[in-house]
Amino acid sequence: MGGRRVSPPQGRTRPDGRSITTTTTSSRGQTDMGQLDGALAVVTGGSQGIGRAIAARFVAEGADVVLTGRRKDVLDEAVAELGPRVTGVPGDASSLEDLDALMDAVRATGRPVDVLVANAGGGSEAPLAEMTPDLFDGVTDLNIRGTFFTVQKALPLLADGARVVLVSSISGSNGDRNHATYNASKAAVRSFARTMTNDLRERSIRVNALSPGPTMSVGFSDFVGGEESIRRIAEAVPVGRIGRPEEVAAAALFLASQESSFVAGAELVVDGGMSQV
Ligand SMILES: NC(=O)c1ccc[n+]([C@@H]2O[C@H](COP(=O)([O-])OP(=O)(O)OC[C@H]3O[C@@H](n4cnc5c(N)ncnc54)[C@H](OP(=O)(O)O)[C@@H]3O)[C@@H](O)[C@H]2O)c1
Repeated sequence: MGGRRVSPPQGRTRPDGRSITTTTTSSRGQTDMGQLDGALAVVTGGSQGIGRAIAARFVAEGADVVLTGRRKDVLDEAVAELGPRVTGVPGDASSLEDLDALMDAVRATGRPVDVLVANAGGGSEAPLAEMTPDLFDGVTDLNIRGTFFTVQKALPLLADGARVVLVSSISGSNGDRNHATYNASKAAVRSFARTMTNDLRERSIRVNALSPGPTMSVGFSDFVGGEESIRRIAEAVPVGRIGRPEEVAAAALFLASQESSFVAGAELVVDGGMSQV
């Protein structure tokens, strides 16, 4: 890999959803192939953690990436580190106005979106008896409403044959104590992948859910608490450790590329076997 490219990247999406060949030749006569060469990807919540790892992997595979996040300084730092193929658009994925601003910025590129990753998610939790309407709304506004309207507002910009990846969680299929709202919100995200795939079948847009298990990130540490909790969770994972954001990014790349051309409406679990055994 590497070397100057002598032919322009052309890894776009055909209207029928098939990829255009992405082979290029380096100055040394070697063949360079990125799975997302020439593609435009949008990743929400990408200034740190899993979203950032996904953006980094997409860039390595030849994509241009538009990233979002609420804190402009953190987003700016990520954009600077990820390089010139990445653009940052600050905004809150639970705000419809901010989503409009994001789509305006994407529209201004003049390019269709080949890959959309609705990754922004999370939220504060509380035991059942202590949950407040405000906390409840915060979780559902981001994970359910935000995910839904991220896709809806991107529709006019998505290429026919585009791939949409909705970041859910293994929590959507379990009953972790004191996480009723988060768990249910991620179940909704998984459900969206089914219905949206059906709703978008005429455009050959594939929508899949990506469900990480415990993955080391700032969000994860905040969510689970201290070292002792992390050690206990790692023990419950058959592979014996917490996952890395790069491992989730590899699965996101599969769903975002033509390698998954016959995968639609599915849930890809990346959890070291935690929810599978
Ligand atoms: N890590 C895990 O163990 C795990 C497991 C299962 C599922 N997930 C899911 O994976 C996704 C990413 O999690 P993570 O662990 O990488 O989280 P993280 O480390 O907290 O990173 C979250 C990223 O999203 C941004 N973000 C948060 N809220 C946002 C909002 N309202 N609008 C726009 N951007 C927002 C954050 O930047 P700002 O704070 O500046 O906005 C940050 O860049 C989430 O959907 C999460 O539920 C994570």
